[in-house]
Amino acid sequence: MEKIKVKNCKIIELPIIKDAHDGLISVANSMDNIPFEIKRTYYIYGLYNPYAIRGMHAHKKLQQVVFCINGSFNLSLDDGAKKQDYYMDKPNIGIYLGIELWHTMKNFSQDCILLIFASEYYNESDYIRNYDQFVKYIETKK
Ligand code: TYD
Repeated sequence: MEKIKVKNCKIIELPIIKDAHDGLISVANSMDNIPFEIKRTYYIYGLYNPYAIRGMHAHKKLQQVVFCINGSFNLSLDDGAKKQDYYMDKPNIGIYLGIELWHTMKNFSQDCILLIFASEYYNESDYIRNYDQFVKYIETKK
């Protein structure tokens, strides 16, 4: 597994339960393998456009963990100093997206489904949607 080099970010590996039945189970627990109280869960699907790009923002307070529970996509991470791409194609491997982390998702397979756990309810004012503003924001916090 590729190591994460950017700040405020880490890989979260959920155990895979192989029980007596067909299929596999992975469990995400609030305040356990998900390192915050989960307030919101959402999922992204219908990614049929091969040029689809999502994300392209950072958050001031929101923490999230993103999983690719079907198909694959590429997650680009940028903490303002370091950049890294992470290929997601394993349902039990999540990426913790902490605060102040510019993230972009693309190269979705048509069957891609993302599952996201979030620490807060949706709040547009928590988003930084302009890259220059993001760079300025993290500079002012140094
Ligand atoms: P956004 O977080 O920008 O999506 P992504 O990061 O996947 O590209 O959200 C896109 C739009 O969806 C946003 O303008 C408002 C709506 N939205 C909600 O209303 N509630 C939510 O919890 C989320 C995640 C999005």
